[in-house]
Amino acid sequence: MNPAFAYRKERLHAEDVPLDDIAARYGTPCYVYSRSALEARYDAFSAAFAGQPVRVCYAVKANGNLAVLDVLARRGAGFDIVSGGELARVLAAGGDPRKVVFSGACKLDEEIRYALAQDIACFNVESEPELARLSELAVETGCEARIAIRVNPDVEAGGHRHISTGRREHKFGIALEDAGTLVVRAMTLPGLRLDGVACHIGSQMMGLEPLAAALDQLADFVRTLQSDNVPLRHVDAGGGLGIDHHGQVAPTPAEYARVVLDALGGLGIEIVLEPGRAIAGPAGLLLTRVAYVKQGHGRKFALVDAAMNDLLRPALYEAWHDILPVRAGAAPDAEPIDVVGPVCETGDFLGRDRSLAVRPGDLLAVADGGAYGFVMSSNYNARPRASEVMVAGTQTRLVRRRETVASLWHGETTFGEAEE
Ligand code: LLP
Repeated sequence: MNPAFAYRKERLHAEDVPLDDIAARYGTPCYVYSRSALEARYDAFSAAFAGQPVRVCYAVKANGNLAVLDVLARRGAGFDIVSGGELARVLAAGGDPRKVVFSGACKLDEEIRYALAQDIACFNVESEPELARLSELAVETGCEARIAIRVNPDVEAGGHRHISTGRREHKFGIALEDAGTLVVRAMTLPGLRLDGVACHIGSQMMGLEPLAAALDQLADFVRTLQSDNVPLRHVDAGGGLGIDHHGQVAPTPAEYARVVLDALGGLGIEIVLEPGRAIAGPAGLLLTRVAYVKQGHGRKFALVDAAMNDLLRPALYEAWHDILPVRAGAAPDAEPIDVVGPVCETGDFLGRDRSLAVRPGDLLAVADGGAYGFVMSSNYNARPRASEVMVAGTQTRLVRRRETVASLWHGETTFGEAEE
């Protein structure tokens, strides 16, 4: 657990605020973010590259709450987006569009037009048809699109097969052997300015060898282009640095920086990074309350008010999130228990086989909920999405209100009613 979340007199706190006070005030389930943890994670990341020409573009997909984006924008962060919606969020939070890079394999016309109008820093192009479309839309709108070609180095990386992106069979990027042709095409098509090359090989990386292998290939490609007098301005190493997970310790930002700088530091151009989880993940948790304790046959369940619709990662990736009691104290009766939610699926669990002593009414904190938590939540089973609270010192701020049940069918009509 991040040091911003610690026990004081047996009560788990977020910074200086007891989590049971937050639950009493804002209800559960509730995502709680620590502003100082977020700042510290961002600062550690950028400090690891101090003195180097590096631009940190936080991956908005990890957590796009305006309060989170605002904290990072104030620290000078750029942003990596994957949709027009994420760009709108960045702008609403006061982010600078000239520090935005646009990733993703399927950018839609409206999103491209919007990003061109906002004059974002760079489009990371992932296919020949996308390159052609971007050129057409840039010409149509009278804009110039600055672009990078995202290559696919055919390297296996990441914490789960669903979040590994750098293999040949994945939908992402351009195979290195095809990338040269695309560069030539990019330089001949109107409306485009080729600024860089990019790659992103996977998420929740706990070892840096695959990254080193991928970045070496990326650097070779940059050097080839440079020797052909292609005027590149940046190289983008993507995101993917993991966080501590189930007893495994992730590489530090400093170790990560060493690998990135070893490979790319000598190229003489700016290095762009797109970290998401490493910044936001440990800076948040999900607060949930035990409704029932059920003794099954050979299995005990803590039935809690948060579910897979709130935190999908355990169900989708079998991801491990530590689960801690908000009130510590002696727990001699701790025993193996599954922490499960109200959603009607066996896959609905937050943690299995945990050692906890729980009673109905107890509060639990699900760790590392700051990234890919709320953003992946849904209204499945007609469950309103959780509230989000940010803590700074002794202060709390509701940064997203809990949804109401009535809002769930906003925009729906029956067949007999008139269309809006
Ligand atoms: N850049 C690109 C192009 C990406 O596709 C991603 C993540 C990132 C940056 C940020 O990666 P990070 O530093 O956060 O690892 N929902 C999954 C993670 C999906 C990651 C997708 N791409 C999860 O909950 O583990």
